[in-house]
Amino acid sequence: MPFGFLRRAKKRVTGVVKQAIIRHHKNSGTVLFSDTTLRDGEQMPGATLDPDDKLRIALALEEAGVHSIDAGFPASSPADVEAIRRMVGVVKKPVLTALCRTVRGDVDAADEALHGNPTNKRGVSLFCGTSPLHRQFKLQKSEAEVLRIITDSVAYASEKFEIVAFSPEDASRTEIPYLCQCYREAIDAGATTIGFPDTVGILTPEKAAAFIRAIQDGVPNLDKALLAVHFHNDLGLAVANTLACVAEGANVVQCTINGIGERAGNASLEEVAIALALHPEQYGVEFKLDTTKLYGLCQLVSELTGLPLARNKPVGGENIFATEAGIHQDGLLKNPDTYLPYRPEKVGASGLTLVIGRHSGRRAVAHRMHELGYELSEDQILAVLQSIKDVPKEERITDELLKQFARRVATPARLTHAGNKSVGQFDQG
Ligand code: KIV
Ligand code: ZN
Repeated sequence: MPFGFLRRAKKRVTGVVKQAIIRHHKNSGTVLFSDTTLRDGEQMPGATLDPDDKLRIALALEEAGVHSIDAGFPASSPADVEAIRRMVGVVKKPVLTALCRTVRGDVDAADEALHGNPTNKRGVSLFCGTSPLHRQFKLQKSEAEVLRIITDSVAYASEKFEIVAFSPEDASRTEIPYLCQCYREAIDAGATTIGFPDTVGILTPEKAAAFIRAIQDGVPNLDKALLAVHFHNDLGLAVANTLACVAEGANVVQCTINGIGERAGNASLEEVAIALALHPEQYGVEFKLDTTKLYGLCQLVSELTGLPLARNKPVGGENIFATEAGIHQDGLLKNPDTYLPYRPEKVGASGLTLVIGRHSGRRAVAHRMHELGYELSEDQILAVLQSIKDVPKEERITDELLKQFARRVATPARLTHAGNKSVGQFDQG
């Protein structure tokens, strides 16, 4: 008997502490980054990661300062269990969460996989389809039945976990009154985070923002849970939608590195982060992410998934700090800010690259020749530029080729090789 009393007292204290933490997060003016590269990202065809790769990425995410990592779906695959087991006790700062359907067995599998992690660093993320399409065709259940499944599983999960997120799958196509009812009852059953997933990536920023306002109006107990948003990129709007929801007061943004994920992918973490970093006055939130780790994270995820980055991919792509256009090269040499929204070091990239090609101008060619050890006159530079333009368009202008052109028009002023430094390393204006 006295033990039952102690258990109840402990639960009450835990509940009070939990609520205090949630209140603190909600009032802190901070947005939390939750990364789902290892779960939703890995769902992308061709992106399979083995447990060692997942651990490497999780450690890199920890170093960057993400708040939580959606580490996998234990009930769906033994490889996910193995990956999570490797992270337990090793990845220490972020909360590790495991994905679960709204069934008790999935919660038990998550409990086992996360066994040994401190209670404030382990959680579950439950999902259940709520839209008419999901209720009718996937689940073949009524609104009331779906609600019962949600409340039963959330209550069960909150007996085992202090951190319990619930997401109504296909939320963006769910009737708003029913959606809000699901949230209200999930919070009453113990959910500490409610998620808003735009599962099929159908929303626009204005509609996404309207959903957040409707949830704030229709869920009176929202003060007891964090509100997380999760966007897919089918319209190319996942990042814009995420930002629109931050502006409306979302507390958590769920993203993936390089935007990898189902179909067109998810909101890309590095793009959301850099937008928030560059426009603090617009969003009025802080976040605890080290943006100088972003470029490295993009390269790491690309390397380990084997999914190459498009050259023009914001933040991580090869072209982001490279230019071939003469006018831009001239401006960048005078002051890099003339043609950049932010400096490479902001995201941890090594510097600017002035690509020499048929669009390059005199100044960039002279600069590169100087780096290669050739001091050329104006006329000699013009002659080199002509030679560059005569190179067939499928051929790259390599340093070897440039040296040949230089030797044709001049003798080296100094033969010491200046190395392959990029502009960013020694001429930042
Ligand atoms: O997009 C989605 O609906 C999901 C759920 C599992 C939350 O990823
Ligand atoms: Zn998703």
